[in-house]
Parts: sequence; C-alpha cells; structure tokens
Amino acid sequence: MSTPRSGLGCGAAPTAFGFALRDTPVSSDPAAVERLVVATGFFRPSEVAIARELVEDSLARGPEASGYHFVLADDARGLAGYVCFGPIAGTESSFDLYWIAVRPDRGGRGLGTALLAAAEARIAAAGGRRVYVETSTTERYAPTRAFYAARGYRLEATLPDFYAPGDGKAFFVKVLGGCEVPPCGSVRS
Ligand SMILES: CC(C)(COP(=O)(O)OP(=O)(O)OC[C@H]1O[C@@H](n2cnc3c(N)ncnc32)[C@H](O)[C@@H]1OP(=O)(O)O)[C@@H](O)C(=O)NCCC(=O)NCCS
Repeated sequence: MSTPRSGLGCGAAPTAFGFALRDTPVSSDPAAVERLVVATGFFRPSEVAIARELVEDSLARGPEASGYHFVLADDARGLAGYVCFGPIAGTESSFDLYWIAVRPDRGGRGLGTALLAAAEARIAAAGGRRVYVETSTTERYAPTRAFYAARGYRLEATLPDFYAPGDGKAFFVKVLGGCEVPPCGSVRS
C-alpha cells in the first residue's frame, strides 16, 4: 500500500457549532462511544461492541498500527459525535468509513456533515481517493442513505439479506477531488 498517512492527525478545533473536533481518542472514549451509539437506537448489541472495540484498538495500538482513525466532536455534555475511518489494506488509495454517529440531541444541526467533511479532508490529505461506506438497506436506514447520497456518495452495490433476512448491505462510494459525484465535500453552514 502506498498511502501516506502523515496528514491524518490534527489538534482540537473549536467551531461555531459549539463543539470542538479532535483526532485522538482518550481513555474515556470507549465508554463514551458505546453510550453514544446505544443512544442513537440504530445499532445491534453486536455492532455496539464493535464500535467500542475500534476505539479500544486504536487506543491500544495507535491509529497507524490499528488502521482506525477518528474525528471526535465534544460539546458541553461530552462526546456529541464521531467518525471512524481508515485505509483499506491491499488498496492503493481506498478508505473505509467505518462508523459515523451523532448524539440524538445534536442531530440534524450539521454535526454529521461536519464530521464527514473532516474525515474526507483527512483522507484526502493522506492520499486517499475513494471513500467507501456500508450501511443497511432497510427502511429504518433510509435517512442514513439519504444523508450519504446528499453528500456525494453514490450507491455502488447491494448485497441482499447480508445482515439478516430482509436486511441487506448497501455500499456507497465517493471519489474525492475528482468531482465524479457532485457535490464534492459540500458542508452546510
Ligand atoms: C446519519 C447521522 C450521522 C447524521 O448526523 P446529523 O448531525 O444528524 O447530520 P446533519 O445535521 O449534518 O445533516 C442532516 C441530514 O442527515 C439526515 N439524517 C439522517 N439521519 C438523521 C437523523 N437520525 N436525524 C436527523 N437527520 C438525519 C437528514 O435528513 C439531513 O439531510 P439533508 O441535510 O440532506 O436534508 C446521524 O443522524 C446519526 O448518527 N444517525 C444514526 C446512526 C447512523 O445511521 N449512522 C450511520 C451508520 S452507517
């Protein structure tokens, strides 16, 4: 793999939204992430466990060795949202967006868009070209799919019944920098 990763790190950045972004998980984040993804009501217990494990793995081995990079958003109440992403082993410049979640009381006010844009900026700075994201095909996830589609992600493939009977996996992709799928990296202010 030829992905340079030096561009992935950066410090906290206070924003006009009332939250601060940071790239480095801290010891309280596994529990905070678990609380947050449970609070969304979107994820199965097995998925919640995986979300927590990704943070623990990144804390234990570091972002480079684990392959799990984060942008985390804090507000006065604690962790308000986060995104987890990393290079896909064996590819030249493709990245997976593993997870994105926003605390429900902060939903619909631009934080998810800001986190997605922050992840894409870090991926692009690291030489990433294609960002892949997987989600469910069920009706429950229709707003999530619309969220990706409105931010330049194209539905590339689906695997019916992947997660469970009637619950397929949808693969979305966004090509960074090339404007292959408009809009490119648009962020609502
Ligand atoms: C999807 C998610 C990260 C979006 O975060 P957000 O901060 O609410 O997003 P923003 O405020 O930046 O953007 C709102 C957009 O997301 C859409 N959206 C998707 N799910 C939503 C939700 N549960 N609540 C509010 N808006 C949601 C809205 O329709 C809106 O679309 P539009 O601006 O194109 O009209 C967040 O809703 C969430 O955590 N959902 C549950 C977990 C999830 O589905 N994660 C992805 C798993 S693959």
